[in-house]
Amino acid sequence: MLMRETVPVTSAESPRAKWDPQIYDRFDQERARPFVDLISHVLAPSPTRVVDLGCGTGSTTAMLARRWPDAEVLGIDSSSEMLAKARSMPDLPANLHFEQMDIAAWMPERGVEVIVTNAALQWVPDSTALMLQWFASMDQGAWFAMQVPHSAQLPSHVLLSRLVGSDRWRDVLGKGIRAGGTVAPVAEYLELMFASGMEAQVWETEYQHVLNGEEPVLDWVRGTSLRPVLAKLSADDAELFEQQYSALLREAYPRSAFGTLYPFKRIFAVGRKR
Ligand SMILES: C[S@@+](CC[C@H](N)C(=O)[O-])C[C@H]1O[C@@H](n2cnc3c(N)ncnc32)[C@H](O)[C@@H]1O
Repeated sequence: MLMRETVPVTSAESPRAKWDPQIYDRFDQERARPFVDLISHVLAPSPTRVVDLGCGTGSTTAMLARRWPDAEVLGIDSSSEMLAKARSMPDLPANLHFEQMDIAAWMPERGVEVIVTNAALQWVPDSTALMLQWFASMDQGAWFAMQVPHSAQLPSHVLLSRLVGSDRWRDVLGKGIRAGGTVAPVAEYLELMFASGMEAQVWETEYQHVLNGEEPVLDWVRGTSLRPVLAKLSADDAELFEQQYSALLREAYPRSAFGTLYPFKRIFAVGRKR
């Protein structure tokens, strides 16, 4: 039986678990590259409706609006902070709009020809069950393109999980941290798509990010997986947790003359309903 990989996430978003657009966008170049790789495999010539699920600050969604200027492009996200930044972007394309919504409550409507979701579905519980519902409701010929980080085995994420489960933090964090189980084994995405009558390609890429700054891996994780952990702690405990985690990260990711190498695997799935 295929085992699901887990990352530490919490179900409830406390105020300190909120997404921070400034921190998240610090690595916008590194985060944009997988998006470009993803959508290069979507060959829809001139779709009329395009949806980006978990659009974040919208900078990548704007690429969709520019690629298909005649399409109505909708970015959906649950974070008011991320959407506020998205709506205030300079040169907002006229065909791009945003809506605040939980991805889990969204279903494809007739006429949606491209569904994109980049680095977001790992935060949604039971995402594979949700995908099956989407695939069943998609129009014939519609495209689906997903990218999720394959991060559970990364030293940064293994160290985070170990620290969360350590004697010092287990009691404070243990109950609040729910193992996500939202990243499926790579092959499962292929099976889901084939079983839903789709043409599909699934692959994995390991990006060799070279990051600058004093503690770039900590900064990266602060924008994503560390948020829900810190949100469970008092301000003093959060500071102590970060100090301990930072020491582990410095050892695992030493700085070199050219920067800090942060290898990062991502899973891609692109398909088209027959
Ligand atoms: C890592 S960011 C990715 C943002 C963007 N897609 C990108 O590629 O830069 C994940 C985004 O997913 C959103 N998100 C997470 N869970 C969500 C949910 N259940 N419903 C809607 N948005 C969600 C977060 O608010 C965040 O903006």
